[in-house]
Amino acid sequence: MSTKIEPVIKWSGSKGKVASSIATLFPQKISGRYFEPFVGGGALLPYKGLATIGLAGDIIPELIGIWNCIKSSPGVVASEYEVRWSSLQENGYLEYYKIRDSFNNNRDPLDLLFLTRTCVNGLVRFNKKGDFNNSLHHTRPGINPSEFRKICYQWSTYIQKVEFVVDDYRNTLHSTMNGDVVFLDPPYGGTKGRYQPTNFDLSAFFNELDRLNSIGAKWILTFDGIAGSREYNTQVPRDLYQTFLPLPTGNSPFTKLMNAGIDAVVESVYLNFQPGPESIRKFAENTRQDSSIFTNLRM
Ligand SMILES: C[S@@+](CC[C@H](N)C(=O)[O-])C[C@H]1O[C@@H](n2cnc3c(N)ncnc32)[C@H](O)[C@@H]1O
Repeated sequence: MSTKIEPVIKWSGSKGKVASSIATLFPQKISGRYFEPFVGGGALLPYKGLATIGLAGDIIPELIGIWNCIKSSPGVVASEYEVRWSSLQENGYLEYYKIRDSFNNNRDPLDLLFLTRTCVNGLVRFNKKGDFNNSLHHTRPGINPSEFRKICYQWSTYIQKVEFVVDDYRNTLHSTMNGDVVFLDPPYGGTKGRYQPTNFDLSAFFNELDRLNSIGAKWILTFDGIAGSREYNTQVPRDLYQTFLPLPTGNSPFTKLMNAGIDAVVESVYLNFQPGPESIRKFAENTRQDSSIFTNLRM
């Protein structure tokens, strides 16, 4: 699958724009299961068709609530979106803030879904209390309900064999075995705390990578990066991975939000295995990079 897939959940840090490029790096055959322990907006989920069963987790319960609704009842998700969207068109911007208050009081996942689709730059932000605090994107009406309905049904088919859990990534990965494949997209060191409170413990994360190495699970990690002149330079210890590839991802939504000009972002992809030459060629082509630069970078 190489065409761009419209997201069903808009999520901060989404890999939507680069999902098809990252997917070229998946092993050609996955004998085990597919794990995605930082699922967020799940941009890679449609590509895990290679594996029969998947397990996806996140620490935000309402996000997992959205995923479970899309999986079991895409029509309900679409209709609930339509009710809120029509109300916003009819009653104006205050409707958005009513829905935001309602979410912060009742934690209805379908309120959150609507907020992610209509907030400023699609940036999902929670304050220290855990309340959603981004504003309405006044100049964008939010996706048309009939278009959104199609996307809900489409995604529901992608995720039928995925189990979604509310859990810390280490618990989600607890049952990984030799032959399983893991895609890891943790909150970034350089941007952490800027759009949602998180105390991400990097040394515990590196220990988990080490554990996955020792049991023979394959992993692909997107991490850190360079945004303009600012370098998010948390390095992954060299003994943990076999391959490093730069991944240009476009512009930084954080600088857009803060009106601080537009930065070009290059993220990093680390793998604990070496993809075949054909995978590297496709990755280079998709990301518009010259594949010869990878020869020096890979080991
Ligand atoms: C960069 S986002 C993932 C984006 C996703 N790949 C996508 O395409 O939309 C990181 C996610 O990790 C989740 N997260 C943060 N700390 C976590 C933890 N300790 N365990 C599991 N998930 C966590 C966040 O809630 C967030 O949804």
